[in-house]
Amino acid sequence: MNLCSKHIKFYHVLGIFSLVSILYYNFHDHLQFPVYYIWQPKMSFVGVNSTRFVIKAGSNSCVQDFYVNGWNSYWLMQNSLSGRSKWRVSEMMRRGAGMGMSVCRTWAFSDGDGPNALQVSPGVFNERVFKGLDYVIVEARRHRIQLILSLVNNLNAFGGKAQYVRWAKEAGINVSSSNDSFFSNTVIKNYYKAYVKAIVTRRNSLSGVKYSEEPAIFAWELINEPRCESSSSAPALENWITEMAAYVKSLDNKHLLTVGLEGFYGLKTTEKSTVNPGKWAASLGSDFIQNSAIENIDFASVHAYPHSWIPLSDLNAKVDYLSHWMDAHIRDGQDVLKKPVLFSEFGSPLRKKLDGPYDRDILLKQVYDKIYESAKRREAGAGVLIWQLLLEGMQQYGDEYSLVAREHPSTYKLIVEQSRRVNNISSQVETNRKLHRMGHCLA
Ligand SMILES: *[C@@H]1O[C@H](CO)[C@@H](O)[C@H](O)[C@H]1NC(C)=O
Ligand SMILES: *[C@@H]1O[C@H](CO)[C@@H](O)[C@H](O)[C@H]1NC(C)=O
Ligand SMILES: *[C@@H]1O[C@H](CO)[C@@H](O)[C@H](O)[C@H]1NC(C)=O
Ligand SMILES: *[C@@H]1O[C@H](CO)[C@@H](O)[C@H](O)[C@H]1NC(C)=O
Repeated sequence: MNLCSKHIKFYHVLGIFSLVSILYYNFHDHLQFPVYYIWQPKMSFVGVNSTRFVIKAGSNSCVQDFYVNGWNSYWLMQNSLSGRSKWRVSEMMRRGAGMGMSVCRTWAFSDGDGPNALQVSPGVFNERVFKGLDYVIVEARRHRIQLILSLVNNLNAFGGKAQYVRWAKEAGINVSSSNDSFFSNTVIKNYYKAYVKAIVTRRNSLSGVKYSEEPAIFAWELINEPRCESSSSAPALENWITEMAAYVKSLDNKHLLTVGLEGFYGLKTTEKSTVNPGKWAASLGSDFIQNSAIENIDFASVHAYPHSWIPLSDLNAKVDYLSHWMDAHIRDGQDVLKKPVLFSEFGSPLRKKLDGPYDRDILLKQVYDKIYESAKRREAGAGVLIWQLLLEGMQQYGDEYSLVAREHPSTYKLIVEQSRRVNNISSQVETNRKLHRMGHCLA
């Protein structure tokens, strides 16, 4: 891609944009028309060709491979809601882009009865919060960042599947006591579908662009870290993914779709059981191979948390473990699934070794090197998203894996270097490769 001319154009656009933004911030409650719409930078949809992400490069008919270096910031929508915290959204995008990253994963859900819930009861939305999500999307686009938007949580934070089950109970539906009825109860499945439909068919109030037509969305993610322990050997989760993936595709065939798995191998994939972090991991009702193989799932997602999965192991054992974990999944993507594999969360707490580098840097470098090696061979290791980045003064959104990148120069450097490496590989255009399924390539 011709970076120079693109950047000049971009800054030109940015100038006009900033002016409009200033007007917008001051007057937006009074404006009736979509201010951002006219000045949005052009972006292309990401597609998939076998084990690689591809994206249209420049104005010609070529597509190039696209390897991802990116990050998680789950908190973007929540911070879009108040005038005092809104700047964090733009600032995080600006810093991410400044580190050469191209993809950010974030929550497009908040279910429950809190003041900042997006879905306050099944199919009922708080428009103020929806506008916050609109804002996240236009800010991402302004910085040429593409978003992976996750649609519900398996965990309780921001409502999650337990909230859906609660709603069903409150409506007098006979649901089993387990929160896993989320995956099997027809009424709850319909709640989820209605939610997905509202999101995917939303028209952005700031840009006028429908979410389903928005190139700043990299992909939809069905659910963050699904587990269905109550049905660990039955195909409850498998059936749910099949049904919901088909449903999302029926609404939006332009965007990629992934599951949101942690990547554990299930009870039936016994040959891989030693790759799991422990015996426990096989009975969570998920299976990396079967779940990711579902036809409408475009790429596989995997998480990696050696510190919480094998807490008692020493650093060397963790490095070793991580290496096998990544190799196994990349090989599955390459040989079995024939789909890209995105490590959509990698997290490690900062721990200093005496007189040595930080644990996190050692593990992060390992993860980055694996992706780089795979990308050099044009294999299925398609990228990593670090969990998670914050800005200064945001401890309330933190966990032990969160960091303000520039407060950790050695980690910051690794991130920037990884961006440089994978972007260099991505920019080696292969001529006239047609963008699969997207129809964006000229014939
Ligand atoms: C609720 O469902 C369970 C299991 O499907 C069934 O055994 C039970 O009779 C149902 N209860 C009512 C009140 O319908
Ligand atoms: C379902 O989730 C709720 C909310 O976390 C929890 O209080 C409840 O115990 C869970 N139910 C079961 C059966 O695990
Ligand atoms: C980019 O990749 C090419 C081809 O692999 C290599 O020769 C070059 O050194 C790389 N450039 C940078 C800055 O890494
Ligand atoms: C996918 O990539 C292969 C190998 O580079 C290329 O030959 C093929 O034309 C591409 N397929 C599509 C549909 O773009």
